[in-house]
Amino acid sequence: MTILYNTSLKSYNTFGIDVSAKYFATIDTLISIQEIIRTKEYQSNERLILGGGSNILFTKNVDALVLKNNLKGIELIHENEDTVLVKCAAGEVWHQFVMWCIDKNYGGLENLSLIPGCVGASPMQNIGAYGVEIKDTFYELEAIHTSTGETRTFNKFECEFGYRESIFKRKLKNQYLITSVTFQLLKKQHYNIEYGAIKQELDVMNVSELSLKTISQAVINIRNSKLPNPNEIGNAGSFFKNPEVSQKIYETLKTNFSNIVAYPLDNSNYKLAAGWLIEQCGLKGFRKGEAGVHQKQALVLVNYGSATGNEIYDLSSYILESVKLKFGVDLEREVNIF
Ligand code: EPU
Repeated sequence: MTILYNTSLKSYNTFGIDVSAKYFATIDTLISIQEIIRTKEYQSNERLILGGGSNILFTKNVDALVLKNNLKGIELIHENEDTVLVKCAAGEVWHQFVMWCIDKNYGGLENLSLIPGCVGASPMQNIGAYGVEIKDTFYELEAIHTSTGETRTFNKFECEFGYRESIFKRKLKNQYLITSVTFQLLKKQHYNIEYGAIKQELDVMNVSELSLKTISQAVINIRNSKLPNPNEIGNAGSFFKNPEVSQKIYETLKTNFSNIVAYPLDNSNYKLAAGWLIEQCGLKGFRKGEAGVHQKQALVLVNYGSATGNEIYDLSSYILESVKLKFGVDLEREVNIF
């Protein structure tokens, strides 16, 4: 276990922001976590745990010990006629894990193909796409308390999952290092293709028989057509959440903006498509210096090359103000700002 000093984080965040970490260490084994906890660099500094760095915007150098979670391993821990429990180490790349499951014909994660990041970060914000969230297949996770070093198992209920939310983003922020996540996956398939874009893409692909592979491929095609590849252009996926409003507010908005894109959540609330709101402000494809709003999906902010975190942050503030001014709706950032 080596602790590096003054390390660039440019290649450890998908926005590609060039800031440095005061201290930096990679966690490869459970034992190395206990070793790191005993060091003076750990005990006398703040800590930041990094997975794939795909949901973070750095706005300054990190005056902390950055721990890159690199724990690896996928294990089948239980199997019955209908389901399997698969335990995946937190440092595995999410998409590679999804591909592993599809290869074994374990269903449930195919709609979540190609989401950037690591497995350990997936429960943090309850990642979701195309009608599926990880809470749907989540079974439990193991984590280590960052002060005491004790191991704790969290079940689904204890994670307090919500839309892009969990207890690890709120009450227990920075208090646990997630070491593994266990998913309950299906051996007998139940496909979820209700999300409009998937059906359309399956038609375009001319798929005669549904399978985990074809659904995954449809999702990959949609994502590739709309979302920028972080290896080519820096971004962290959706920068904002889709805001929830009451039925009353929705109806007022609908009167003024008849083509507003919204989804009923329950009898009294609606979720608005933030991408639509931003686009209607004339900001889709907007660029200020090296920071911009993606041309094909206005919910995604991009780094055209050498943007600073503050330039991207300022652009996000401008978007918040513009949406508030035009629609009276408050957007909330989904990406963690550091
Ligand atoms: N729309 C626009 N203009 C835009 C973008 C979207 O008008 O620039 C409208 C379109 O009408 C579209 C609707 O908004 O039909 C919804 O767009 P999309 O299907 O692209 O989904 P989203 O609501 O913008 C959410 C997630 C994405 C996820 C997609 C697909 C959030 C914050 N984002 O985006 O997740 O891939 O649904 O399920 O919930 C991420 O979290 O990083 C992410 C990419």
